[in-house]
Amino acid sequence: MFYSEDLIEEIRSRNDIVDVISGYVKLQKKGASYFGLCPFHNEKSPSFSVSPQKQMYYCFGCGAGGNVFTFIMEYENYTFVEAVKMLAQRAGVTLPEVEDSPERKKEASLRQTLLEINKLAAKYFYYQLTQPQGEYARAYLDGRKLSHDTIVKFGLGYSNKFSNDLYQYLRGRNYDDYTLKETGLVTIDEKRGGYDKFWNRVMFPIMDVNNRVIGFGGRVLGEGTPKYLNSPETKLFDKSRNLYGLNLARRSRRPNMIICEGYMDVISMHQAGFDNAVASLGTAFTSQQASLLKRYTDEVLLAYDSDGAGVKAALRAIPMLKEAGLRARVIDMKPYKDPDEFIKNMGMEAFEERLSKAKNSFMFEISIMERDYDMNDPEGKTGFFNGVAHKLLEFSQELERNNYIEAIARGYGIAYEDLRRLVNQYGLKSGFGEENISRPKPAASRREAGDREEAIVTAQKLLLTWLSEDTRLFAKIDEWVGPDDFTEPLCHEAALKVFDEFYTKGTVTPARIMNLFENKEEHDAIARAFNTTIRDESDKAAKEKAVNETIKRIKLNSLDRLSKNAKDIQTLQDIIRQKSRLQKLHISL
Ligand code: UTP
Ligand code: MN
Repeated sequence: MFYSEDLIEEIRSRNDIVDVISGYVKLQKKGASYFGLCPFHNEKSPSFSVSPQKQMYYCFGCGAGGNVFTFIMEYENYTFVEAVKMLAQRAGVTLPEVEDSPERKKEASLRQTLLEINKLAAKYFYYQLTQPQGEYARAYLDGRKLSHDTIVKFGLGYSNKFSNDLYQYLRGRNYDDYTLKETGLVTIDEKRGGYDKFWNRVMFPIMDVNNRVIGFGGRVLGEGTPKYLNSPETKLFDKSRNLYGLNLARRSRRPNMIICEGYMDVISMHQAGFDNAVASLGTAFTSQQASLLKRYTDEVLLAYDSDGAGVKAALRAIPMLKEAGLRARVIDMKPYKDPDEFIKNMGMEAFEERLSKAKNSFMFEISIMERDYDMNDPEGKTGFFNGVAHKLLEFSQELERNNYIEAIARGYGIAYEDLRRLVNQYGLKSGFGEENISRPKPAASRREAGDREEAIVTAQKLLLTWLSEDTRLFAKIDEWVGPDDFTEPLCHEAALKVFDEFYTKGTVTPARIMNLFENKEEHDAIARAFNTTIRDESDKAAKEKAVNETIKRIKLNSLDRLSKNAKDIQTLQDIIRQKSRLQKLHISL
């Protein structure tokens, strides 16, 4: 790290988090914490909390969290070092002139320079659009019914007909060939010199969630191939981890997100008021993008093209969305090809209606399956219902499964009992009794294993919260659990630090521990860990029960893991002894 840990900690402790954040967000005291409207996503009622005791913030809405450094980094788009400098100045701490490691410095400054160049290029393209040479591009956008406001909002531009003018422009700004090549905007040829990747195209700057330009898409004016050209992946531009339009959609007041296929779809949806639309970046939707969306919403509507490719893309995306814990529904765009065309022909109210009618993803999958069978032929019909029965086994919970059986019975003209019997038959065939048909399919049991895993991680987070809030708990639990019982990697790291800090200093300051984690994902995860709350903490008996159950759960899990790795009888016997001792565990608060 650039500055010493002690210095970082001094700067942190001299910048009270409530003070600092109050400069940006209106906060109101509620109990031990302060609450306000989250500056990182759009909301109407405050779910952004700042804890003076923990010196941390956490948003219950979008999961953003961290200490005073993280806040400044996120809010101001600063790097860690920039945030440290700013807060040092605020608190009147003088920083020594320390050098970062050469590679790190080079890497950080390259990224910074690439951001700078991308921003310059976006401005350059925008300028070209406004000039005489941009006439055809303007006419093209006009023909696509984009308003001036929309063009500005998305920063659209034009790369003109010269094949190296952007290159010349950037060279004129003193960027060298090596750096320019890293932007993906130009190609450097030994003999011909540098030339532009994009020319005579309408330009779509691609921004990350923090509004920084990380790449471009460029469309031909009219017909031509390739229709869209995209920036290659660079040090800035990771296509699988960003979504077009998310910088705007994350602030939407709508209750869900809409994923569509193209840049133009996103833009015309935003223009029509559907400001929750995003698209992937010229590549198929990825599971990282699903997790990214999960930070901002619980439900995703798919607005893929109504053609075969669009249906295939939807069928591919649905399991990824579910895996990320999102609900998914599919919008029917027929008879139009995509949202852009639909809205242009039918208007926003008609689209709004399609949104409200979007089909639940399971029912969508079933309706696609139906196409493979001739429903007028008894044999075809039987085949279809057998397929449906099989697929219904995905639902591990009986109630949920029965609700779907009912919906299908209603929609497809089969008696509820008949379909239920068929489902149970399948369950039995896979070697499970009726009560147990919940687990015949790998997908379902994976989900259950996932639930179990999640419960254990939650338990570990809860215990970290309680320890940081009430250090008397250490003495009460220390014969039962230690840092190594925290099996989830980030919890384990945090636990090592929490225990160490308590035993060396007698206190725990979560915000101090956070200094030791470097990236944003880690900060969010740790902030979440320190802000895991359960309902009804005020009820002492309930809390005591929760503490005991939590500790038991953590210890059992860690013993299970030990026994899996045990190499000899003695270790195993010891584990069994510990397990039976655990039955006696009772901690009173
Ligand atoms: P579409 O061809 O459906 O785009 O491709 P679109 O938005 O409807 O295009 P318009 O309306 O004719 O302008 C969907 C997405 O696939 C990627 C782009 O990201 C596009 O937005 N794509 C498409 C490419 O990367 N290259 C191509 O040649 C075509
Ligand atoms: Mn289109």
